Amino acid sequence: MQLEAFLEEVERAFGGDPQERDPLDPHFAELAGAVAGYTSANELAVLNAAARVMPSDECYLEVGSYKGRSMCGAVQGVSDKTFYVLENYLEFGMQGRRAREELEHNLRAHASHADVRLLEGNCFELLRRPGVIDRPVGVYFYDGEHTGLSHYLALGIIEPWLADEAIVLVDDATYPMVSDAHEEYIARHPQWQVVRRWDARENNDPRWANGLHALAFRRDAANPRGAAEPWDVQWRRLAYRAALGPGQKAAWTAIERFPGLIPLAKRLYPSKKASSID
Ligand SMILES: C[S@@+](CC[C@H](N)C(=O)[O-])C[C@H]1O[C@@H](n2cnc3c(N)ncnc32)[C@H](O)[C@@H]1O
Repeated sequence: MQLEAFLEEVERAFGGDPQERDPLDPHFAELAGAVAGYTSANELAVLNAAARVMPSDECYLEVGSYKGRSMCGAVQGVSDKTFYVLENYLEFGMQGRRAREELEHNLRAHASHADVRLLEGNCFELLRRPGVIDRPVGVYFYDGEHTGLSHYLALGIIEPWLADEAIVLVDDATYPMVSDAHEEYIARHPQWQVVRRWDARENNDPRWANGLHALAFRRDAANPRGAAEPWDVQWRRLAYRAALGPGQKAAWTAIERFPGLIPLAKRLYPSKKASSID
């Protein structure tokens, strides 16, 4: 996946600098109106630009699909490539059959032309499983849970799967806990760099929601594919497994069962996600 091709395609999709513009194709706004979700029309156009220029021997992987809006946007006009959706149906009451059914319904309605494969489970567990993806990841979109630890791990856990050159798009990146996590990761892993920041001016900014950052990854000889997991990723993964993962699961399950906890969750988890728990 070539970084330059991606940046040119983004510019083409907006007819200039996307920070101050809407995408030229009105279909992304229509999709955002038709499919419940959290990604803005501008974000959908950027995801789609990445999918368009990704080589077909690589794949596009998304973590955190909710009801499928971001994936429906990514695949528009792209019928010859492979897309993976990875979702654990944990947040926003997205539990069980109902959540899966809504996601599948939306994919049928807006993405039936594309090869979209559903992976169910926690990304931090599933992406440890050999062979779960059948080709290198050229585009990775992370829109899963937003804690500093999860964001650091979101980069660490995908690195072995990435193509030698890849684009990584991180949602909600205007939140300091998100951008701090990727800056911290990049400081230890020089194969990564931030190439674009489309920041939100306010919470739920109509153009950029809560911000989208584009990171580029270029594998180098010192860090070949198949190298052992570095210690900074390893200990965070163990910490996640022992504490944060089970804690998040318990919290979301409690909110689902006891809606009276919603005001407390909004105070503790100040993001677009919590503002729309109800
Ligand atoms: C903000 S929503 C995604 C919004 C979606 N991309 C859209 O366009 O509307 C975040 C989703 O990530 C899922 N999620 C959170 N943590 C996850 C994890 N560790 N593994 C897999 N999915 C996760 C949640 O269940 C939730 O549906």
